[in-house]
Amino acid sequence: MYASDDKPKPRAAVTVPALRVAKREGRKLVMLTAYDAGFARAADAGGVDMVLVGDSLGMVVQGKPSTLPVTVAEIVYHTQCVARGLRAALLVADMPFQSYATPERALDAASALVGQGGAAMVKLEGAGHVLDAIRFLVERDIPVCAHLGLTPQSVHKFGGYSVQGREETAAQRLLDDALAVQAAGAELLVLECVPSALATRISQALQIPTIGIGAGPGCDGQVLVLHDMLGLSSGHRRPRFVKDFLAAGGSVVGAVKAYAAAVRDGSFPGPEHGYE
Ligand code: KIV
Repeated sequence: MYASDDKPKPRAAVTVPALRVAKREGRKLVMLTAYDAGFARAADAGGVDMVLVGDSLGMVVQGKPSTLPVTVAEIVYHTQCVARGLRAALLVADMPFQSYATPERALDAASALVGQGGAAMVKLEGAGHVLDAIRFLVERDIPVCAHLGLTPQSVHKFGGYSVQGREETAAQRLLDDALAVQAAGAELLVLECVPSALATRISQALQIPTIGIGAGPGCDGQVLVLHDMLGLSSGHRRPRFVKDFLAAGGSVVGAVKAYAAAVRDGSFPGPEHGYE
């Protein structure tokens, strides 16, 4: 036998169409944020399906009080760094505050994130007028991840970072918005800080996968901010959906593997990480 026969096969690259297949087959999807090549390499080696260059970088990398000051140029720069560290994971880049206020602005920003940054998909927060931007991008072959529930770019409208969709009318609006972003062409939906039962109801109503963060175990996958997953303090209040996987994992790659395994076997998130 030749030595090369023993080499582990590199895993296949995760593609946009593969996300719906995973949902149909009941395989949980694992997403983690990263902002540079070194941690992107660790996330990829740890087996995550998707890496998100989140505008959370404004808070965890730049130390700012919110995600609002982050610019398209900054996300492009960090997306380029992350792209150099990835081999298989799908690269998703966040659209900064007001960069998708009109469909035309959205196309300019998304073209930079995909064309210069190397992202395969862009993420936008909200529904309503954002549906036009989603349609505009999808019609131009730019895959879109929607983001509903606690959308941090709306922090001033919400008056803080609070759980969304607790009352029946708000829950129904969230379900309607989820169906609307799917109809507009989104291929993925992040649900942030919504009651676990509502996130399960939304996940069951959609054909596209839902990725939860503070949305309970009924979503089709989970996302965490890298710094939270490694137990690093951001200087902000630690939300209940956060779990430090570094102690159990023993190393950064070990922590990613422990997180990915816990999402895939359904042990994370537990009931204590969700909201009623
Ligand atoms: O910016 C970000 O990191 C995000 C995730 C928390 C979903 O939007």
